[in-house]
Amino acid sequence: MDIVTAIKERQSIRAFKPDPVPLDILKKIISQALWAPSWANTQPWEFAVAGGKKLKEIQDGFLNRGDVEAKSEVARPYEFPEPYISRMRGLMAKEKTFMSEAEFKGRRTDNFGHYGAPACIYLLIGRSFVYQAKGVNVWPLYDCGSVVQTIMLLATSYGLGTVAQAQAVTYPDIIRKVLNIPEDKLLALGIAIGYHDMEAKRNKFRSDREPLDKVATFYGLK
Ligand SMILES: Cc1cc2nc3c(=O)[nH]c(=O)nc-3n(C[C@H](O)[C@H](O)[C@H](O)COP(=O)(O)O)c2cc1C
Repeated sequence: MDIVTAIKERQSIRAFKPDPVPLDILKKIISQALWAPSWANTQPWEFAVAGGKKLKEIQDGFLNRGDVEAKSEVARPYEFPEPYISRMRGLMAKEKTFMSEAEFKGRRTDNFGHYGAPACIYLLIGRSFVYQAKGVNVWPLYDCGSVVQTIMLLATSYGLGTVAQAQAVTYPDIIRKVLNIPEDKLLALGIAIGYHDMEAKRNKFRSDREPLDKVATFYGLK
């Protein structure tokens, strides 16, 4: 699959088939994604990949938590100023038309169940590289964004679906305990990965993008 096709075909998948993803494919995707760029080649990422009983243990822990406050280790946005709030509302309004009322209400639970995906790739970042004595170093998050997108594009090219999930790291303590992840690694993001269920109506939803002339300005070019 060429890169432009992979970019266009990747979409957030929110209904997966239970079929497991072979371990060698997961290893291939992550090892190829390691070629993503990073500040001075610092490669500030590590991955913990869970499936089977381990993933179920995490999901059960999340679902039974009964606690609505997220404990994410990478702070969530405190505010969504314009134009971001309007884009978010636009997404939710359109997305809702691709879901039943029950699915819309159950989004949090579905997130915690990784939308039925058989595996989740957890992104880890060294805590001391992000939270530093003089302030927060945001640069490793750029690097991690590029490795995450590379993983998702490679997955698309191997016929797999993905969805990046902030919700998958809502309760890092649960993941840490099940996967034995040390405190000095931040649990930054989860990427649910598996085979798409393209019969599911919610996977037929495609998000929009702003037009080029609204977001890019070109100077001194012909
Ligand atoms: C950092 C990040 C966190 C996200 N967290 C979630 C999440 O917790 N749950 C979810 O369903 N989608 C999540 N998404 C997916 C976005 O909603 C999605 O990428 C966006 O709406 C654009 O749609 P597309 O991926 O289909 O192009 C996340 C995406 C990113 C990049």
